[in-house]
Amino acid sequence: MDDKLFDRIIHGGDYNPDQWLNTPEIWDEDMRLMNLAHVNSATVGIFAWSLIEPQEGVYDFSCLDTIMDKLHENGKAVILATPSGARPPWLAEKYPEVLRVEENGIRNLFGVRHNHCLTSPVYREKVRNINRMLAERYKEHPALKMWHISNEYSGECHCDLCQNAFRAWLKKEYNNDIDDLNERWWNGFWSHRLNSFEQISSPVNRGENHVSALKLAWKRFVTDSHISFYENEIAPLRELTPDIPITTNFMRMYDGIDYQKFAQHLDLISWDSYPAWEKGNNEEESISVAFTHDVFRSMKGGKPFFLMESTPSLVNWHPVNKLPKPARQALSSMQAVAHGADSIQYFQWRKSRGGHEKYHGAVVDHCGHENTRVFREVTRLGKQLELLADITGSRTDSHVAVVCDWENIWAVRYFCGYNNNRRDYIKECEKWYAPFCKRGIATDVIAMDADFSKYDLVIAPFLYMLKDGTAERIEEYVKNGGTFLMTYLSALVDTDDRCYLGGFPAGNLKNVFGIVCEETDSLPENMTGKASFNGKMYDVNHVCDILHADTAAVLGTYESDFYAGTPAVTKNTFGKGAAWYAAFRNDDCLANDICQQLIAETGLVSDAAFPVPDGVQVRKRGDFLFVLNFADDNRSICLDKEYTDVLAECPCSGTVSLPECGYLILK
Ligand code: GLA
Ligand code: ZN
Repeated sequence: MDDKLFDRIIHGGDYNPDQWLNTPEIWDEDMRLMNLAHVNSATVGIFAWSLIEPQEGVYDFSCLDTIMDKLHENGKAVILATPSGARPPWLAEKYPEVLRVEENGIRNLFGVRHNHCLTSPVYREKVRNINRMLAERYKEHPALKMWHISNEYSGECHCDLCQNAFRAWLKKEYNNDIDDLNERWWNGFWSHRLNSFEQISSPVNRGENHVSALKLAWKRFVTDSHISFYENEIAPLRELTPDIPITTNFMRMYDGIDYQKFAQHLDLISWDSYPAWEKGNNEEESISVAFTHDVFRSMKGGKPFFLMESTPSLVNWHPVNKLPKPARQALSSMQAVAHGADSIQYFQWRKSRGGHEKYHGAVVDHCGHENTRVFREVTRLGKQLELLADITGSRTDSHVAVVCDWENIWAVRYFCGYNNNRRDYIKECEKWYAPFCKRGIATDVIAMDADFSKYDLVIAPFLYMLKDGTAERIEEYVKNGGTFLMTYLSALVDTDDRCYLGGFPAGNLKNVFGIVCEETDSLPENMTGKASFNGKMYDVNHVCDILHADTAAVLGTYESDFYAGTPAVTKNTFGKGAAWYAAFRNDDCLANDICQQLIAETGLVSDAAFPVPDGVQVRKRGDFLFVLNFADDNRSICLDKEYTDVLAECPCSGTVSLPECGYLILK
């Protein structure tokens, strides 16, 4: 499928006209307002099952037909959703098996959404059927441009059907060999040796929850269940609308499903971004959001993604819902585009009158008219996005990657030992990503099984678990000239959370890194150690590996505790490349300082040919250079030459002052 799906940036969002069935005149008003707001698309039907199938086998497409036609007449692209995210009451009443069973073994009653069993044959059949009806009906409709599958797939079910499916999954995974499973799960421990797969159940608090290999297997099973549920959903769509791209909306770093695996089944990635702005550290949040964009973009090798949801003002689900400052959402939207988004979409178009989300931000407020701050800001952004139409389809090529691996998120969470309360795997990845983000260096964020060879530098913080072949791939990469950095507690276990024998890091990585890790120390929260790197002192926070260097050069040493004087930062030349090890956690500027040196050594260059002030992010995409001010006040940008200010449509040079939440798009 082409990278360029549209010749304009899609600007729209979730549109739920079925909430307004009794005032259908509002639909024409919606069209008028969408045109005013420079909105060119709508995502419809997300929770529309009870609208289109009010009783089993009784279908009513009249509302959806009208809406599809109206949207088309007004030049809007329709992203049509399948309705499996929430089911009508009749379905749950007649077929209780479709409802989810929680960890406690009790089946949920009907209610909320995302409350379904992933295995239930009845639910799968009903979903496939309604999806087929939708595809049959709208396959020729000129407004239909994309499929949006379900909504934010998530959660898990512990019913008997799922337990049996899990056992079948395990049998396949472990070659139907219970002895092999016993060995890999180390079940000789605590007398847990199993006689058969039938003795296994999902990990729950009142049952088995201390076998990390079981917990990992369960997560993998839940991922595969979601994928097969999704494949079941899309079968009729692929058959009837083979040219319409398919996506489902992911959530920010949600780890209930291995998104890196799921991504391979989507035509394009889309995700829902709800940053926690105005909570005290907008700059840190902006880097974390940039990181997430790069995670999702990297899942498809740099192809554009969709920002399927964002709020045009506030959300309703934080404990306290502060209004974002004027222009914050526009800045945040431009950041998404800079990182590869080909759409800016909102939840939702019109605020609900009742229901759980009636105080969630929307483009059209309860007042119903266009004379609001939010509407004006959305309109302004809509016009600006039109000026960026040429950007769609353009890929991002990065020369540096940070490894943040979904399976490793789980593995890091499940093991017991060392710094049990302070693991923060994703934060660690963000910490090593930040130095590149702050300098305007495009960065990918990848799984450990992604191809390393296209990068000059790969950083893998806290790479605790190694998937099969990863150690060999790191070795190959460094041997061929790559620079690879790992940090503390890396390369300890295999995919069943079984420790590698023969010393850490695993296998031949000891030679690649030229070190051996002998022990690991953990520090209570009120205690910090000291270490130096390049003559500068750093705190040792929470955890550190005690090493001895074989062939590696020692660039930093511990300066406290009984291991003072031993290596803390090392670099080993191996083949044509270099392997670095940062043996301790530091919550301040160690990552920044090491990356400064790595950038110089690997020749990475910034997208900005001018200095990037603190709090500002620069990103090049296609021919456009985005300069985004996430600092809490003005920033001066000293441009290196004359550019065109794309939004003001005039030349731009010299020193430009960007206000808080200000942005410049240069060409
Ligand atoms: C999610 C859902 C939407 C809505 C928003 C509110 O992203 O997909 O339906 O509930 O959250 O923030
Ligand atoms: Zn189930």
